[in-house]
Amino acid sequence: MTTQKQLEHLLEQQAKARLGGGQDKIDKQHAQGRLTARERIEMLLDPGSFEEFDMFKTHRCRNFGMEKSVYPGDGVVTGHGTVGGRIVYVYAQDFTVLGGSLSETMAEKICKLLDLAMKNGAPLVGLNDSGGARIQEGIESLAGFSDIFLRNVMASGVVPQISAILGPCAGGAVYSPALTDFIVMERKNSYMFLTGPKVVKSVCHEDVTVEELGGADMHSSQSGVSDYAAESTADAIAYIKRLLTFIPQNNLESAPVLPCADPVDRPSDALRTLIPDNANMAYDMKRVILETVDNGDFFEIKENFAPNLIVGFARYNGVSVGIVANQPGYLSGVLDIDSSVKGARFVRFCDCFNIPLVTFVDVPGFLPGTVQEYGGAIRNGAKILYAYAEATVPKITVITRKAYGGAYCVMSSKHLRGDINYAWPSAEVAVMGSRGAVEVLYSRQARDSGDAKAFLAEKEEEYHEAVSNPYVAAERGYIDDIIVPANTRARIIKALALTRNKRDQNPAKKHGNIPL
Ligand code: HXC
Repeated sequence: MTTQKQLEHLLEQQAKARLGGGQDKIDKQHAQGRLTARERIEMLLDPGSFEEFDMFKTHRCRNFGMEKSVYPGDGVVTGHGTVGGRIVYVYAQDFTVLGGSLSETMAEKICKLLDLAMKNGAPLVGLNDSGGARIQEGIESLAGFSDIFLRNVMASGVVPQISAILGPCAGGAVYSPALTDFIVMERKNSYMFLTGPKVVKSVCHEDVTVEELGGADMHSSQSGVSDYAAESTADAIAYIKRLLTFIPQNNLESAPVLPCADPVDRPSDALRTLIPDNANMAYDMKRVILETVDNGDFFEIKENFAPNLIVGFARYNGVSVGIVANQPGYLSGVLDIDSSVKGARFVRFCDCFNIPLVTFVDVPGFLPGTVQEYGGAIRNGAKILYAYAEATVPKITVITRKAYGGAYCVMSSKHLRGDINYAWPSAEVAVMGSRGAVEVLYSRQARDSGDAKAFLAEKEEEYHEAVSNPYVAAERGYIDDIIVPANTRARIIKALALTRNKRDQNPAKKHGNIPL
């Protein structure tokens, strides 16, 4: 029989563990506007659903007086619960315990979660707030980090992995989040970098603030390391919860299908007049997305990084899809290094987790110039090409206007196993724009004509009539149908229904060699 005394002892031990590094450390955390590990977990999970593992596990370090700094559970809270009724494994580093620094014991706790997440097929969410490797432990801590990295890699493509950065994340510690599928960073309180401003100053003679070097805004707009810069912990956690609604639990399942009240055949007359008469004028591709998806509800990923390509999740008739779309409203929607990498990573995530892809195309080509070429535009542009080519999920494509050159091939074309490829009547499928084409073809004749400008204008008109339309591609079957823009939603929903049971395979191999 369990005695009353034993029960009281258990409650005492639990209460002690829940205090982490102590009330004074909790107060300090709160004074800085930061929540504790357990408060963050409570915010993420359905009320009352959290069950903790390894609450009494302690570190084994006896160096540097560490035997006097032993805290039950050590510097990370781990366990599982539900988000919207679906199981999620979660860990939250506890900054109140030795700055959340990673001990061998903490690594074991996180590895246990990753093993369970993989075995049982449920996502892992990591809430990071840590001073990095526990300095007193040295190699044990480094070994622990490496054990986590290995499992992050093994879990990649098996279960979704999501990281929130809610405090410091520096040194090699950044690589665990970097190996996960999505990173959300909290503005002001969080940063990620390999070495801090002091080392940067001494090695590179650069003066830089923590925020400039590794803040949420920088990583969400310049480096592309982070998918979202959250205003607060609550905002970061709300983002993760919403993200989870669009994705399946693991690579053997499909994302949940939600009931849809938005009529499947709802026409959108606004789409008829969206494309400007002048082919060189911009418009906002997000309007096409918002007009066609269920209830105008679009969840954008990496909104502030490479905005010339839009990626994110939405639903058509309740079915979760990944949307990739050129944005003519930014740099004319051109593909460059950053947008290619952004698109490739997103396409590969969707393909890992059985999420169909819907691609909206209006792209004038790849961005030329030395900056791009020196930066490896060839190597990086090949990534999005590779990603679309290897993807076996349903791929639905709508060309709204330009689909020029190599960028036509890349953007989910028929040739890369696009399943259903539509074009609007305004589509121009060509090797390049009319002006560029006639300048290459007729420069000598233009010079000889006496009025080069008029000659080229006439030839441009001719070329446009002959080539820059969707009919030549449709004649060859590279476009399955030319559709009325207002009916785009209905046609995408039909195409998704048609491809719902699609099964496609790549040749057996150890793994491909995506250009890196
Ligand atoms: C042990 C650490 C620690 C660490 C912080 N603490 N980092 N203990 N190992 N890495 C302890 C502090 O001693 C302090 O203990 C408590 O955590 C809170 O730290 P403070 O410095 O008081 O907090 P704050 O002023 O907010 O500064 C936070 C910080 C700073 C910026 C993270 O603590 C810091 O610079 N820490 C060292 C970071 C670092 O160099 N880590 C190693 C990176 S290399 P008390 O008892 O006073 O409360 C690395 C390699 C990983 O991580 C490689 C993986 C492959």
